Amino acid sequence: MKLLMAVTGLIFVGFVALHAYGNLMVLGGADTFNTYAHHLRTFGQPMLPYEGFLWVLRVVLLVSLALHVYSALSLWGRANGARSTRYAVKKAAASSLASRTMRYGGIALFFFIVFHLLHLTTHTIHPQGTVATPYENVVGSFELWWVTLIYVVAVLALGFHLFHGVWSAAQTLGLTSTAAARARAKLLAHLVGGLIALAFLIPPLAILVRIVK
Ligand code: HEM
Repeated sequence: MKLLMAVTGLIFVGFVALHAYGNLMVLGGADTFNTYAHHLRTFGQPMLPYEGFLWVLRVVLLVSLALHVYSALSLWGRANGARSTRYAVKKAAASSLASRTMRYGGIALFFFIVFHLLHLTTHTIHPQGTVATPYENVVGSFELWWVTLIYVVAVLALGFHLFHGVWSAAQTLGLTSTAAARARAKLLAHLVGGLIALAFLIPPLAILVRIVK
């Protein structure tokens, strides 16, 4: 179960890294971002049909999400079932803020992703008013402080989740057996969580303060 959690988690790390990088195209202006959004749909043509790449990605993400949640629930159930009586005094000896927030952070991220898909993929929710080009949808949305706030909170939760997730995956994959390896794994976890969160934060904040308009 932990291996399943680690492998599906690493698939998400790859996705969010590419997604955060892609979002930075907003800094290049309307043409750059709209061309990028168009290329996401024509990528791989004519070997793949229009939007073929996006659909492959969606299936991989959905299957990974199902397996990630399934392994999380079953590990959670196992941990709870391991004792028939609750501890009278329960004090964690070595748990970090990140590890304790994994479950609730994971659940919060799930709800954010549902909101995010309704917002920028299906456009069911369109705080910016009219649904127009990808660039206008993004810029119109993040000019609103409360939309930016929702995304900033979600991205910070993602940063924590990634930090602890990468650290746990390193343990599961046997990459933390020596002190030097543990230091390397911790550095990697900080870099992955920090850099991905930073890259996600730049476009909404740049739009909010009108550096990008
Ligand atoms: C500031 C943060 C973010 C911005 C500005 C942003 C922007 C966008 C945009 C514009 C799209 C639509 C792309 C298109 O259809 O051309 C999109 C899709 C998507 N985003 Fe984000 N995103 C952000 C954060 C996230 C995070 C943190 C996650 C996941 C943890 C995420 C997951 C997704 C997914 C799954 C899709 C749908 C891909 C598809 O099936 O078409 N996004 N995002």
